[in-house]
Amino acid sequence: MNVVVIGSGYVGLVTGCCLAEAGNNVVCVDHDVKKVNALTGGTLPFYEPELEAILDEQIQGGRLTFTTSIRHAMGKANVVFLAVGTPPNSDGSANLHNLLDCAKTLGQAIPDDCVVVVKSTVPVGTCERIRRILNNATEIGRHTQRISIASNPEFLAEGRAVQDFRDPDRIVIGADDPHAFSVLSDLYAPFNLDGNRLILMDIRSAEFAKYACNSMLAARISMINELSGLAGALSADINAICRVLKGDARIGGSYLHPGVGYGGSCLPKDLSALIDLAQTVDEPADMLRSIQKVNLDQRERLFHAIRTHFNDKLRGKTIGVWGLSFKPGTDDVRAAPSLSLISSLVQAGAIVRAYDPVAEHAAQKALGDMQVHYSPCAMDVCANADALAVMTEWEEFGHPDFKEVAHQMRGNMIFDARGLYQSETLQRYGLEHYVLGQNK
Ligand code: UGA
Repeated sequence: MNVVVIGSGYVGLVTGCCLAEAGNNVVCVDHDVKKVNALTGGTLPFYEPELEAILDEQIQGGRLTFTTSIRHAMGKANVVFLAVGTPPNSDGSANLHNLLDCAKTLGQAIPDDCVVVVKSTVPVGTCERIRRILNNATEIGRHTQRISIASNPEFLAEGRAVQDFRDPDRIVIGADDPHAFSVLSDLYAPFNLDGNRLILMDIRSAEFAKYACNSMLAARISMINELSGLAGALSADINAICRVLKGDARIGGSYLHPGVGYGGSCLPKDLSALIDLAQTVDEPADMLRSIQKVNLDQRERLFHAIRTHFNDKLRGKTIGVWGLSFKPGTDDVRAAPSLSLISSLVQAGAIVRAYDPVAEHAAQKALGDMQVHYSPCAMDVCANADALAVMTEWEEFGHPDFKEVAHQMRGNMIFDARGLYQSETLQRYGLEHYVLGQNK
C-alpha cells in the first residue's frame, strides 16, 4: 500500500519504518526541515534500539522517503496516519493545535478512498473534529467526497518500540465504515501474527482505550509505590510482598516494580489529559487525581530523604547521579524523576555530578544553564561524592564495582531509587543503602 505518516516524532517514525519494512511504500512528513534532512541521510533524532538499522535499510531499499510537504507526500496514498505530538497545555489538557492544522492542509490534498488514521493520543471526540475539518477543506478545495476516518492508538513503549510494533499485544482500530476497517485490517495483517490481535470498535472507544491503558499502568505503579512506602514504615519487605502479588494470576506480574514513580512523555501527560477530559463531563476522577498525587509525592520522598541524610545542609555537598533518562533504553528525559531531583539538589546548593549512557545531551538541553557536571563514565561520578543517587536502572548500573565506588566516594550513602541492590552486598564494602520506600 501507499502510506503517508504525518509527524516524524517517536510514534510516527516507528510506524513509518516498520510499515516500510512490511513492504509498503511509505512517505514520512515533518515540518522540521533539519529533521527531514537528517532522516533522509539515515540519522534518527533520538535513541531507540533497532530503529536506525530499519531506517537505513528501508531508505536504501527505496520504500521510505521523507518530505516537509503534506501535499507532495499524498500522491496516491491509500492510508494517511496523523502522528503529530499532542503535548500538554498548562492546564493539563491535550494541545491539538498542530494536529488540527495538519488536518486542514490534509483536507486539500487527500485522494479519493484514502483512509485518514489518527494515531496521536487524542481526547475522545477529536476524530469527529478532524472529520469536520477534512469535510470543510475538501468541499472548498475539490469535489465533495466521503472521508473515511479511523482511530488507531499506539501502545508501543520507548526502548522496545520496534519489538512492540512487530509483535503487538493488540492492534486497536476504531472506525465507523467498512472501508476503513478493511484497509487497516489488510495493512496490519503482517503484524496480526496469530490472527487474533485485532480489536475492532467504534471511534470514541478507541480514542478512550489509549487513555484507559496508560491510566491503568500509572495506577499500578502508584499503588505499588504506596504499598512499598507502607511496607517500609511497617518493617515489611516489599520484594517479598511483590512475589506474593505476582503469584496471583488475577493481579498479574508486570508494572509492579516500586521506584521513584513514573516519568516519560506519555503516562504523566495522558493522565493529566484524562483528568481534564473528566472535568468536561463533570466526572470527579478521584482515582486519577490520587494516582498523580502519589507519583509526585514519590519524587519528593527521595529528595526529602537525601536532605534529611545531610541534616538539611546540602550546600557544598557533592551528589552523584547515575541515570538521567526516565527509564533505560531511551534518551528521553521528559518528566524524568532524575531531572526534578537534580533541580531540587542544585536549588539547595549541592554540586551535582551526573552520568547517563545515552541521555546526557537531552538532559543538558532540558536543564538549560543549570550547573551540572556531566561525567564521561559512571565511576567518574563517584569521585569525592558525598552520596550517590541511582535514578535509572540501566544495565551497567546493575552490578557496579562497589569496591571502586566506595574507594572513589567521600561519603558512603547510596540512594537506590529503583531498588537495584541488596543492602548486604553494599555493607560488605562499607556502603550504606537507602531504598526508596523501604527506609523511612
Ligand atoms: C507507556 C506505555 O507503557 C505504552 O504502552 C504507551 O504506548 C506509551 O506510554 C505511550 O503512551 O506512548 P513509556 O512511556 O515508553 O510507555 O514507558 P513505560 O515503559 O510504560 O514506563 C513508564 C514509567 O513507569 C517509567 O518511568 C518507568 O520507570 C516507570 N515504571 C514502570 C515503574 O516505576 N515501575 C514499573 O513497574 C513499570
